[in-house]
Amino acid sequence: MRVQIADIQKMKQQGEHIAMITAYDYTSAQLVERAGLPVILVGDTLGQVVLGHPTTLPVTLDDMIHHTRAVVRGTQRTLIIGDMPFLTYSNVEQAVASAGRFLQEGGAQAVKLEGGKPVLPVVRKLVDLGIPVMGHLGFTPQSVHRLGIQVQGKDVDRAANLIDDALALDLAGVFAIVLELIPAELAREITRLVRVPTIGIGAGPWCDGQVQVFHDMLGLFTDFVPRHTRRYATLSETIMAAVQGYASEVRGGQFPTMAQSSTMDEPVLQEALRRCGVPPALGDV
Ligand code: KIV
Repeated sequence: MRVQIADIQKMKQQGEHIAMITAYDYTSAQLVERAGLPVILVGDTLGQVVLGHPTTLPVTLDDMIHHTRAVVRGTQRTLIIGDMPFLTYSNVEQAVASAGRFLQEGGAQAVKLEGGKPVLPVVRKLVDLGIPVMGHLGFTPQSVHRLGIQVQGKDVDRAANLIDDALALDLAGVFAIVLELIPAELAREITRLVRVPTIGIGAGPWCDGQVQVFHDMLGLFTDFVPRHTRRYATLSETIMAAVQGYASEVRGGQFPTMAQSSTMDEPVLQEALRRCGVPPALGDV
């Protein structure tokens, strides 16, 4: 049985911080579940960290469904949230079709979408249809060309707007709200005001939970560390050392040895060679 939406909401009521992380494939999802995290977001950061795009904008619904299915196959207990990509929820009808694919084809239990008041009709419809929706406010990467990559909500108007949006999403029925790149104090107040859990990324320590991008947190990139990330490992170095070690052993003839090989009875090999009309193997009588 997977973690339920109600379990996540109970965690806020009980003051238990929610640790969430992104994953995009079977192996990483399996590791995250074994590490005991209750929620995985199959984020559209897939575009940057897996597919090599400069932003999340080129990610398609088919890309997301494909990766969501892999994450679902790698997990049995974790709540899986699929991230609705750019322009797949521009109106209610399109959003129903897109979210439906996440649940029916992808096997996700919930979806996430970006934005405040403009997406309220979509949120209400999905929730009415029984599809749990996570909101996403602050820096919303699908609007990167309008917003730029910077902390949002630092002046009165924008801070008030974000508070209004969070309250409106809460009322519309989202089960949680991601707050990305907003001042910690603003995130603290939103967290106090809304009934549902807030999940921060670059939004300070007072959110109900935190989300991080798998590749950022594990140091899978050699040169880029976002300011809001703490590296818990530097796997890029570990992986490069392992790959260099492998290549060097192949070049030097130290890998593989007979320990990584299988053998066959010599007479069987000789008979096979004889049947093919080729000379016996070197060193054989
Ligand atoms: O796509 C993603 O990974 C996200 C998180 C950064 C919240 O939206």
